Amino acid sequence: MDIIRAPRGTRDILGDESWKWAYVTGICRNVADDYGYKEVHLPIFEHTELFCRGVGETTDVVEKEMYTFEDKGGRSITLRPELTASMVRSYLENEMYKGTQPAKLWSIGPMFRYERPQKGRYRQFVQLDIEALGAQDAYVDLEVIDFSMELYRRLGLSNLQVVLNSVGCPKCRPVYRKALQDFLKTRFDELCDTCKGRYDRNPLRILDCKSPICKEITENAPAVMEHLCDECKEHFEQLKNGLDRIGAVVKIDNRLVRGLDYYTKTAYEILSGDLGSQNAVCGGGRYDNLSEAIGGPHVPGVGFASGIERVVLTMEAQGCSFGKEPANKVYVVAAEPEVRMEIMNLVRTLRQNRISADMDYMGRSMKSQMKSAGNFAEYACIIGREELDKNIITLKDLKEGTQEELTLESIISKLKLQ
Ligand code: HAM
Repeated sequence: MDIIRAPRGTRDILGDESWKWAYVTGICRNVADDYGYKEVHLPIFEHTELFCRGVGETTDVVEKEMYTFEDKGGRSITLRPELTASMVRSYLENEMYKGTQPAKLWSIGPMFRYERPQKGRYRQFVQLDIEALGAQDAYVDLEVIDFSMELYRRLGLSNLQVVLNSVGCPKCRPVYRKALQDFLKTRFDELCDTCKGRYDRNPLRILDCKSPICKEITENAPAVMEHLCDECKEHFEQLKNGLDRIGAVVKIDNRLVRGLDYYTKTAYEILSGDLGSQNAVCGGGRYDNLSEAIGGPHVPGVGFASGIERVVLTMEAQGCSFGKEPANKVYVVAAEPEVRMEIMNLVRTLRQNRISADMDYMGRSMKSQMKSAGNFAEYACIIGREELDKNIITLKDLKEGTQEELTLESIISKLKLQ
């Protein structure tokens, strides 16, 4: 019988990689703390309706990519494909509008999308998500974009490009939509099949199509910027000026429309030059009507999400530091098999003193225990009959190759200081 493998598009993050994740998520936490965002833990599954109404029925995410099933109670449940809709649901359900506004929330965890897997694109992936809910001010958009840039700065990333656009609002978008449809009408027959379907339902997404013919057709398409209402224009100008004032280098791209329907005004992505085709390390924007779409009152919001797999891949490609890989300080070696219980006791004492320690459980010879020590630890503590009789331990510095005989107390104080 073949062994059962993990489902396509999922991956195991093992010990040689997970410490890098711990480093990255630790930095995420630091940045969130410094920017005043509070961590929340939300359900991994929600009512399907939340995403249909929140993310939008005509998006690829809702149409093709959701893991939806009926639970044993006959409810339609979906594994969350993203966090923004859940964040807004939680804000409403927990009456966060009664507290200080904006409510600034962050979370990190797995998302699920039935996409075609490739490098940097998985069916289960981890997002850091931050959301500021309840404020209309363009400076909140500025804070959110600045948060993402500061995160990547602290992680040591370079070769990134911030791409910015405004997708308008329900007042001005229909005007732009019409202008775009009029422009595309004459070459409708040449559009790819997917975009033919998008023409009526979601024509803005045609601007995002990767097919060469659609790209060529939309090359001179009218720009959304020229159709923004005064309010959206002013919001964009304020954000753009703010970004200039903080020295952010931003490329305005009128083709950036994003794959989720809830965006209004600001839309942005940060792209990595080291990722290949799945090059967005983060994406986000403003979504002032999402709350109403899921049955709540008007709650403006803005946020972003960053794929941790893509962040780690980019950091690896750029040779960024992940800090120090956790390693055992001490490997305790039994010179004779009879002293194993004493070894176990020493390992326990070291651990209780917050000195990481390990030992052999495979009955190996002293020589191979020393080899393990060399592979896994900075120091070897060697105990045999002789050491026990003298009440001392031999401490070997495996890097220097030096050794000394010490009492347990002096070993603890020496290693604790390091
Ligand atoms: P999104 O652009 O769909 O936006 O995803 C955000 C980020 O998640 C992407 O830039 C990418 O880094 C990562 N990502 C997305 N799909 C995958 C995948 N299949 N495999 C690996 N990584 C992936 C959102 O999800 C919005 N909720 C962001 C947002 C928050 N907008 C406002 N607030």
